[in-house]
This record gives sequence, C-alpha cells and structure tokens, in this order.
Amino acid sequence: MVRRLLAVEPCRRHLRDLLTDDPGRAVRYTATVGDLRLDWSRQPVDDRLLDDLRAVAGAAGVGGRLAAMVAGEHVNPTEDRAVGHMALRAPVGASFVIDGVDVVPAVHAVLRDMAAVAERIRADDSITDVVNIGIGGSDLGPAMAVAALADHAHPRLRTHFVSNVDGEDIARVLAACDPSSTVFIVVSKTFGTVETLMNARTARRWIVDALGEDAVAGHFVAVSTDAERVRAFGIDPSGMLGFWDWVGGRFSVWSAVGLSVMIAIGPEAFADFLAGGRLIDEHMTSTLAEGRLAENAVVTLAMIGVLHRSILGRASRAVVPYSAALARFPAHLQQLEMESNGKSVTLEGTAVGVPTSGVVWGEPGTNGQHAFFQLLHQGTDVIPVDLIGFATAGHGLTEHHDLLVSNLLAQAQALAIGRPSTTEPHRHFAGDRPSTLILAERLTPSVLGQLVALHEHIVFVQGVVWGIDSFDQWGVELGKELSGRITPDLVGSGPLDSHDAATRAAIEWYRAHRRG
Ligand code: F6P
Repeated sequence: MVRRLLAVEPCRRHLRDLLTDDPGRAVRYTATVGDLRLDWSRQPVDDRLLDDLRAVAGAAGVGGRLAAMVAGEHVNPTEDRAVGHMALRAPVGASFVIDGVDVVPAVHAVLRDMAAVAERIRADDSITDVVNIGIGGSDLGPAMAVAALADHAHPRLRTHFVSNVDGEDIARVLAACDPSSTVFIVVSKTFGTVETLMNARTARRWIVDALGEDAVAGHFVAVSTDAERVRAFGIDPSGMLGFWDWVGGRFSVWSAVGLSVMIAIGPEAFADFLAGGRLIDEHMTSTLAEGRLAENAVVTLAMIGVLHRSILGRASRAVVPYSAALARFPAHLQQLEMESNGKSVTLEGTAVGVPTSGVVWGEPGTNGQHAFFQLLHQGTDVIPVDLIGFATAGHGLTEHHDLLVSNLLAQAQALAIGRPSTTEPHRHFAGDRPSTLILAERLTPSVLGQLVALHEHIVFVQGVVWGIDSFDQWGVELGKELSGRITPDLVGSGPLDSHDAATRAAIEWYRAHRRG
C-alpha cells in the first residue's frame, strides 16, 4: 500500500488557478452529508488526483474493513477486541453482533438507565452542580459536548470537569461547589487510571467530611466496565452505569461516558446527538457497501488528509471552529486522531513507511486569527486548516455572527488565493494554503453528533490506509509505568540507582526543594 500511496502524483497547480480555471469545482468538490456542507474546493486536488486517492482507499480495503468492524470482528488485534462505537448509536431494533451477542439491546438498556439518572438529577432542585471526574476519553468528549451544547443546557445545573491530577483542577471546582448540592460522576473505563482515582478519592473525602459516609451513595455515580474496582473504591456498583471493552475511550462519548452530557441537555437531545452520529454511519455504510467510494465524502476528506500527511509531508493540521461553543473540539480531535493514528507499526508489526497522524491543534476563530494565523498565511510551513462555521448562532446577536462568518470566509479566501506583492516582500501573501470548510445551519445536538462521527470515520479510513491499529494506545503505557516507579522515590530518601542520570538529578532537586 505504501508503494501505491507514494506513487500518487500530487496536483502542483496553485489553488488560485484551480479555482479560476475551474469554477465548477466549488460545486463539484462540495458534498452535503446529513446537515453538514463539506467543501474541499480549496484543497490541492483535481479530478485525476481524487480518483487516484480514492483508488488507494479502495485498494487498502476500506469497505471490507468497515464491514468487518460492523460484523463485530476483532479489528483491534493488539487488544484482541471488536470496535463497536457504531453500535452505541444504533437504533432500537438494529443488530450489532459482538462475540456472538447482539449488543444493541444492552446499549439501549444502559441508555434507559442513564435517562433515569439524568431525569432524576434534572428534576431534583436540591442539586446545583454536576462534576465529571475522568481523563482522556472519559473527559474530552463529554467536556467538549457540554460546552458545545451550552445553549441546550438545563438552566439550574452547572457542569464541571475535573481531569488533571494537578490538585489545582479539583480544588478550583470544589471551591465553587457545595457538598450538599453536588453530584460526582466518576468515569473510567478501567477504574484503574491513577489521575481519576486520586481525584475521585479527594471528592469522596470532601463529601464524607461534610455529610458523612452515608452520603456517598447519593452523591456519586460510577461509569465503568469494572464493577469490582468500583466496589473496591467505595462506590456501590449497583447504581453503576456500564459500558464495554469494545468501546475505546476516545469513541465513548455516545455511551454512559456521556452521562454528564445527557444530564446537561436531557435524554431527548442526547438521542438527537446519537441520531446525528448515526447519519454519518449510514453515509459510510451505504456508500461503501455499494462500492460508491466517490460518493463517500468521509473517504474523500480522509484521503485529502493522507495526501497532506503522507505524500506532501505536512506534519500538522489546524482546526479552527468559528464558534466559541466548539472551543474544546480541537482538544477532542487531538485524542481522537493522535491517540488513534499516531502509530509507526502496521498490523503486521512492520514499519509503516510513510508519516501517519500529524499534530492536530487549534483554537476558535476569530481568536486564532490574532495569534497564529500570521504563520498560517506567511510562515515557512504550509499547514492545512479545517474551518468550521454555522449559518445561525443561538445568542441572537446577528451583527456579531455576520462579522464572525465574514472572517471565516475571508480567511479561507486569503489562505487559498493570497495577494502577491513584488514590491513589499513582507506584504506578500503567496496563497495556495489549503483549507476544508465545514458548514451547518446551526450547532444542534444532531449536528454535533455528525461532526464527531465524521471525524471518527475519517480516523478509521486513514488507519486502514496506513495499515495500523487505530484502536489501541500502547504508546501511553511506558510513561504511566515509569511514573508508578518514580512516585515513591520522589517522596522517599532511598537510593535512586534504578533511574537514569537525568531523572536522578531531577528527583534529587525535587527532594531538596519539596515542601510537604
Ligand atoms: O491513557 C490513555 C487512556 O487509556 C485513554 O485511552 C483513555 O481515554 C484514558 O486513558 C482514560 O482511561 P479510563 O477511562 O480507563 O480511566
């Protein structure tokens, strides 16, 4: 596959010329999928290159791999697991068989349990604050979604997220809450993540100190796959909301991991969020099942990403939502893309041979324009940009919104077309800087679901083309293990021979300066 990929000839024409000579590309290179208008007309592609890229995706077996995933095969071989996040948004009556069991009824049973918890909390006037304790996928997806859907949030409830083991994080939240009116949701797939357990212990102590041991049951909900560890921690697992090992953390916002989202926006809106994800699933499955690769906008966008990364060597991509509500969307994508596809070995254990996931980063526009857009326009690296915007905002300040959207379109235009200057080099805008424009009418729960699922499937397609396991994350293990060995040495006084010289020196410095 690598040889085939590297044989793809890029399109060398300036975006300005592509758009001038072929205005039809503005229509041809735009697709509407669900409520999303996906526009890749400012990407360095033409019909020939798109055909070549789609042929690579086809030859890599994207359709077959999607079918295998939907059939519940263990497409995550290094963990010997199926990958079932699509089952989390499957409708009642659908079937998704994993390890011989149709999991859809269990998925909907958990959704009903979540709805019962959510309705109870939403109806209980004595509760004012909900605190989600979790990290990685047990934090980023829900935190992103709660912020994105703030317009739809329950007026009484405040939702907080505590993830970092840095005590600042939980101290800040506890200072803003009252124990008697606060509910904690402890979210951890494994219930073994040290950051989450430490934060949960601190929260538990805070409740017990204020209200006594008996209050724990009423103030804690656990979300996990491991009831035994939940019990051992000190939360009664009878009220635990479960999920399954075939749900990867970064794909889990659709499951009980999204309880904080459901509490904030209500079960009905959460169902809309799931339905939005399902719309993209249907686009994927229907087009690929029929071999209509050219009609699959996800494959097109994924392959444009592969073009930038693996053929043109572009090491990063900016994601700039022109929506303050989507401020955490780039952070969610960082885990989704970099933890999934930041890999160097293939499924066969050999070197991949081309660059895989690049760095994803971004901030909302217009703020980003006054920070890093200088580099995007005139820096020495070409950095592809994803721009996301909406026709209507919930706040009703239309003057603000029109100005916001004009900025979005101006940036896309300036990046692509540029403005050459032969007399003043510092004012020279070379243009030819690619962007993808994603527009929707409004940021609703369904549209958010569509945006999240779109990126999940892009990650999937790219992982197939690179021939890697997009669903494991072994790269995070070594640091965790070493931290487990360093912690006792930081606070102890024993010999440090087991550490390398640099670590030893840093530990010695810490011991000398630490004030307990
Ligand atoms: O360290 C990475 C990771 O395993 C992520 O994949 C996961 O989302 C996060 O930690 C949290 O894991 P858990 O939900 O088991 O606490």
